[in-house]
Amino acid sequence: MQQNSVIVNSWNEWDPLREMVVGSADNANFEPTEPGSKPAVRASDEAFPTGPKSKEAIDLANEELQGLADLLESHGVTVRRPEPHDFSAPVRTPDFEVENQYCAVCPRDVMITMGNEIIEATMSRRARYFEYQPYRKLVYEYWNKDSRVEWTTAPKPSMADGMYREEFWEWPLEKRHERMHDFEFCINQDEVIFDAADMSRLGRDILVQESMTTNRAGIHWLKRHLEPRGFRVHTVHFPLDFFPSHIDCTFVPLRPGLILTNPDRPLREGEEKMFLSNDWELVDAPEPVLSNNEMPAYCQSSKWLSMNVLSISPTKVICEEQEKPLQDLLAKLDFEVYPIPFRHVFEYGGSLHCATWDVHREGTREDYFPNLQYTPLP
Ligand code: ARG
Repeated sequence: MQQNSVIVNSWNEWDPLREMVVGSADNANFEPTEPGSKPAVRASDEAFPTGPKSKEAIDLANEELQGLADLLESHGVTVRRPEPHDFSAPVRTPDFEVENQYCAVCPRDVMITMGNEIIEATMSRRARYFEYQPYRKLVYEYWNKDSRVEWTTAPKPSMADGMYREEFWEWPLEKRHERMHDFEFCINQDEVIFDAADMSRLGRDILVQESMTTNRAGIHWLKRHLEPRGFRVHTVHFPLDFFPSHIDCTFVPLRPGLILTNPDRPLREGEEKMFLSNDWELVDAPEPVLSNNEMPAYCQSSKWLSMNVLSISPTKVICEEQEKPLQDLLAKLDFEVYPIPFRHVFEYGGSLHCATWDVHREGTREDYFPNLQYTPLP
């Protein structure tokens, strides 16, 4: 670690990695049906299971998560893991009740490092309301060790019935087409709502997507919080993603000047300007090896988990073992590619980037968009 750098320090998605939290499948449960989430078994009418995941499924995911931890350690990265948590416990607040929680496989969804600051997201689903808890012991450790570490918890939304738009789930495809430029999903705009994984960090510039898990009030809160700290916050949209949640299978920065894009989910017209006028290249990911129907039965994410890669540095990237076409593209783009098996993790909500939270990368905040027109909040 650089001398005297803050113990928590990460400004983008690619600088050389020094410390990272890798998720754990211990005590994972199936995500419950709730106003913000309607899980379904893939390509089947079977009812979605409830309660704890099987020991076999947990062991298989944990083995792959451990494989990721081992690979990172072999590259000199300090790997930390979440604290055990009882996800089968129900949650009851004055505003809602839910029968069980989810898991600590995807710290990316909950926690984000903004330079020397740790932000805990509001979250958007009831079962994930307390998902910060498995990371609190680590946060305290960092916060106690270095007085330069900032720690912010975003305001908790009520998650009461009135926060959701339950009809969203019933909309026919036609209506989704008609409304694709409204960017209105299963949460309404009344409360501040965001999941951490809807953001992507590019030095001074932070991208946030409007989604099923992040609303405009959430983005407004982020702007008001981050602009005075010297960041520029840009809202991005992917109108053809009718169920958007978490940006890291859609728009994935790999190094300064290069973003891996999703050919099924182009940026809203005009939003590409910021990248092109600053000499960034947008490169489409190849078709994933699995089709949506071939994804694991309980996995609620799309085939585009293929592009959920994790950067160890601007030249080294970890990719799912079976995604050969993407590995070839990355090699052509001059990356050293480290393939590892990760498919048993898919049913826990993500792949390599989702299952991690970077605490320390080398480097400082840089401006990768010198030709930018940015209007901060008044
Ligand atoms: N909604 C994305 C897709 O299905 C999956 C996002 C997973 N990302 C995460 N951080 N959990 O394409």
